[in-house]
Amino acid sequence: MNFELTEEQLAVQQAAREFAQSELLPGVIERDETQTFPLEQVKKMGELGFLGMMVDPKYNGGGMDTVSYVLAMEEISKIDASASVCMSVNNSLVCWGIEKYGTEEQKQKYLKPLATGEKIGAFCLSEPEAGSDATSQQTTAEDKGDYYLLNGTKNWITNGNTASIYLVIAQTDREKGHKGINCLIVEKGMDGFVVGKKENKLGIRGSDTHSLMFTDVKVPKENRIGDDGFGFKFAMSTLNGGRIGIASQALGIASGAYELALAYSKERKAFGKPISQHQAIQFKLADMATEIEAARLLCLKAAHLKDQKKDFGKASAMAKLFASKVAMDTTIEAVQIHGGYGYVKEYHVERLMRDAKITQIYEGTSEIQKIVISRELLK
Ligand code: CAA
Repeated sequence: MNFELTEEQLAVQQAAREFAQSELLPGVIERDETQTFPLEQVKKMGELGFLGMMVDPKYNGGGMDTVSYVLAMEEISKIDASASVCMSVNNSLVCWGIEKYGTEEQKQKYLKPLATGEKIGAFCLSEPEAGSDATSQQTTAEDKGDYYLLNGTKNWITNGNTASIYLVIAQTDREKGHKGINCLIVEKGMDGFVVGKKENKLGIRGSDTHSLMFTDVKVPKENRIGDDGFGFKFAMSTLNGGRIGIASQALGIASGAYELALAYSKERKAFGKPISQHQAIQFKLADMATEIEAARLLCLKAAHLKDQKKDFGKASAMAKLFASKVAMDTTIEAVQIHGGYGYVKEYHVERLMRDAKITQIYEGTSEIQKIVISRELLK
């Protein structure tokens, strides 16, 4: 067992840290308030290779390992979780899904521009009536010979408006249950595809979350990923990796809040000394640092297993379950340590606290992670 990062991994971590400080920190409070997507910043993330980190260089990707991806996600998420969710979905759901299961034509046409960030991707599984119960897809993809006729509504879609390439999960044959579900690559601009309203959210307010409507959209057969009926397995398999991204996002939100609280505790004085000299604060910092370290190790273990091409579904669910709880607990404590200042926007921690909550909900709620983990335990 080796806990040392390689020079390459350290360089990726450093590059992400510098990018987050110089490009994402300025304006992050305003973007949160005005619900503004960090478009320019995401473009730069693409130029720097953060949007297709693990994609094979022959498809314009960075050819990096998942450990590097975790490190970069943590650094970006410390500062701006709205940017990092875009990064996570593009890397680990959309790029990975197409690279792993797509045809060569799909990779040439869709993966190449996604890997550079020239185009952004979205993953469309959730529906008004199908969140955790993902097999209950109401969106239909009727087989019409050489195309599918797509009808339905998707909800809470990250990158909903910014994306131009959408992986849409839909039911083709209801009688076959989850084995009758397909995943189709849908392009923005296809007739009958409308981007719906933007959600006004508690946290990650800069991220671009929309509902999507499909009315008689004709999607060519060659845009189906995998064999007929593979769509549900595609979604589950892709989410196994996606959860490493969200776990790392939660880790970053937690460590960002911790770093702010640690620095503040050394500056702020109460009862004649810095509050860091009071045991009440010291114990909070000790708990935060320990839990963050444990979350980090779970994220890195899941990433390592994925890089070793071993089964990582349970590990990624554990990482997400634990890291998202640590994000919630740590950010609440970071606000507490900041006292009244923590409750106002300028000190960042209230935003991180609001951002933390979604990590317990999307890409599988904490309850769903427990289902995934316990099924593995009881196999
Ligand atoms: N990996 C690979 N295959 C899997 C799998 C996994 N993790 N989980 C299930 N499968 C397979 C099963 O083996 C099964 O196949 P067979 O019938 O051939 O054996 C098939 O999928 C159906 O599985 P289940 O019978 O277990 O299905 P279920 O109805 O009991 O549901 C579930 C399982 C784990 C609860 C699943 O529905 C689930 O993960 N729900 C949560 C969905 C989710 O994460 N949504 C997030 C939305 S995406 C998002 O948030 C993106 C964003 O924008 C940020």
